Amino acid sequence: MTVITHIEDLRRLAQRRVPRMFYDYADSGSWTEGTYRANEADFAAIKLRQRVAVNMENRSTAVKMVGIDVKMPVAIAPVGLTGMQHADGEIHAARAAEKFGVPFTLSTMSICSIEDVAQSTSAPFWFQLYMMRDREAMAAMIQRCKAARCSALVLTLDLQVIGQRHKDLKNGLTAPPRPTLRNIVNLLTKPRWCLGMAGTRRRSFGNLVGHVQGVSDMRSLAAWTNEQFDPRLSWTDVAWVKERWGGKLILKGIMDAEDARLAADCGADAIVVSNHGGRQLDGAPSSIHALPAIVAEVGHRLEVWMDGGIRSGQDVLKAWALGARGTLIGRAMVYGLGALGEAGVRRALEIIHKELDVTMAFCGHTRLEAVDRSILLPGTYPQA
Ligand SMILES: Cc1cc2nc3c(=O)[nH]c(=O)nc-3n(C[C@H](O)[C@H](O)[C@H](O)COP(=O)(O)O)c2cc1C
Repeated sequence: MTVITHIEDLRRLAQRRVPRMFYDYADSGSWTEGTYRANEADFAAIKLRQRVAVNMENRSTAVKMVGIDVKMPVAIAPVGLTGMQHADGEIHAARAAEKFGVPFTLSTMSICSIEDVAQSTSAPFWFQLYMMRDREAMAAMIQRCKAARCSALVLTLDLQVIGQRHKDLKNGLTAPPRPTLRNIVNLLTKPRWCLGMAGTRRRSFGNLVGHVQGVSDMRSLAAWTNEQFDPRLSWTDVAWVKERWGGKLILKGIMDAEDARLAADCGADAIVVSNHGGRQLDGAPSSIHALPAIVAEVGHRLEVWMDGGIRSGQDVLKAWALGARGTLIGRAMVYGLGALGEAGVRRALEIIHKELDVTMAFCGHTRLEAVDRSILLPGTYPQA
């Protein structure tokens, strides 16, 4: 087997091991996938200044995100259907994050439930909420997060309607997969995955089935989302969630300086500059491109984080240099999980951490607190 040395190795292995329907679900963006590609490409275009003859001993990448100690400014992003990339995927990813020392965020659309993850971990995790039409169900879900001692709530604002992803429609994405001839033939080539799934009872949306009215099975994720997610979501609703929750609130999916200001007015503790990994508004700028203007607008009022396109520790360092006080990783985690389960997520985190640490040293620093945009080559990075 190939020695795993970078995230791309994990991606390739995941592609071999995960059924096509679920691999495609992760490795895709909406419409032309232009924003999806830009998220990675715009990171690659930023160049670093190499410094030499600087003492590089005793380095640390440890910082805080909303007051929580983290080994590096990286948290696991909420990813729906993680438990379809690998049996009990959310539990494996949460355990890997806990052991490594970074936060794990559980998606509303996860396969393992809030209670499943709480029972399988000891460090508090974060929960990501979508605003649904049924406010009673929302209030109940917030209550479940409190009972599970979640340490932050991530409210995602950019998916009240769903961006069309061609592959999901063509693959007829459902959880578990529908037994069509095409799916059966594909599943026959994924024995590890099938064995894992045969050994777990967690094969549907754990947070919803049996908890939210009208959800007993999942015909089509897109159709269900269109029915249930509230298109009337407003800042008043954000305030409603904040009041019900009462703990740390992170608003995810902000791409505009004006929205960032409104988020700060709402009293959010952090915002995530995010285009949902290029899965929603195709044609939006990359997240790293949108970051500087938002940092300039509200960086003094709350923590600004970002996600989208992070495939290495160098990307984390570049985001930090441009003012992001935290990052989230989606696909880098998914590829690790699909490739090797918990060990793969741990490997993904180790790879990113090592790249971050060594690159920081090459740029002449031993602590992230001292890193700013002066490590970037002028003319190669986006400005406010
Ligand atoms: C397969 C997949 C499922 C996702 N599901 C959710 C979700 O349920 N809730 C959410 O807020 N974001 C979701 N996201 C977006 C991620 O939280 C994050 O914004 C994005 O993955 C970051 O980009 P990256 O994958 O390039 O790291 C999903 C992303 C992917 C790839």
